[in-house]
Amino acid sequence: MSTPPDRYVVIGQPVDHSRSPAIHTLFATATSQNMAYERLAAPTDDFAGTAADFFNQGGRGANVTLPFKLEAAAFADELSERATAAGAVNTLSKADDGRIHGDNTDGVGLARDLEKRADAQLAGARVLILGAGGAVRGALPALLAQEPYGITIANRTTTRAEAVAAAVDNAVATAAPAELTETYDIVINAVSAGLDGTMPAVPDIIIGHHSIAYDMLYADTPTPFVQWARDRGARRVTDGFGMLVEQAAESFYCWRGRRPDTMPVIEKLGYGNSG
Ligand code: ATR
Repeated sequence: MSTPPDRYVVIGQPVDHSRSPAIHTLFATATSQNMAYERLAAPTDDFAGTAADFFNQGGRGANVTLPFKLEAAAFADELSERATAAGAVNTLSKADDGRIHGDNTDGVGLARDLEKRADAQLAGARVLILGAGGAVRGALPALLAQEPYGITIANRTTTRAEAVAAAVDNAVATAAPAELTETYDIVINAVSAGLDGTMPAVPDIIIGHHSIAYDMLYADTPTPFVQWARDRGARRVTDGFGMLVEQAAESFYCWRGRRPDTMPVIEKLGYGNSG
């Protein structure tokens, strides 16, 4: 009789459109892992109950997506250093002793995709981040670890930018989006309104011909930020599909101890605007 597969899920609300099952299924095939990966929708008021049931019924690990990343940090029995720094968890694993370990692979996913697919050198770079939500807080520790020259956070609500900057490193600067006066080497968009066609109001000067523009959002057509950055002649413009695959690969490594190759998965799933 064959051994039943180890069970993994992505927990979110909504979660119907998550690409994580497709990504992890390709990883599992490529690395010969006997595992199953499915979507699990949790009621917005009961993440903890849903996650507890899953693990009590033999589940081995879970990715956590919107809107539960902060609750997942509270749910875990212990947190990795990077999850503590991010204050949010996107990866839960059940250890052999039954304890639930929380980790955050979003920041590493972004840093890897920036270097591999967007061809961006973070070390020594002047980096601008638009937005100051949970995604930025999760990503900052991994970006800072690459030792950029500096990071500026520009957010509609400046107090929120200041709070996010203060939580990680007092070398992170903040600015009002409309008052930016410099050109940056790397501009990262983390404003969640972008998929509805809204772009934050920012001066054209932030993008120069040497700039790399990276949208943490992704879609099967160019996002408004991707379009905006292309129109301004950025050297390279990339959306966030590769980040999704890279954070998945890091989660997969946490669970299975194997590092799947990400490029074939990005190519096979046919997403991602890059160029
Ligand atoms: P995420 O987890 O994706 O980061 P979030 O924590 O809700 O989501 O953060 C959303 C980010 O998008 C915030 O930086 C938010 O700005 P505020 O802090 O000022 O709310 C930004 N955002 C959302 N809608 C926006 C809009 N219409 N214009 C400008 N910024 C917007």
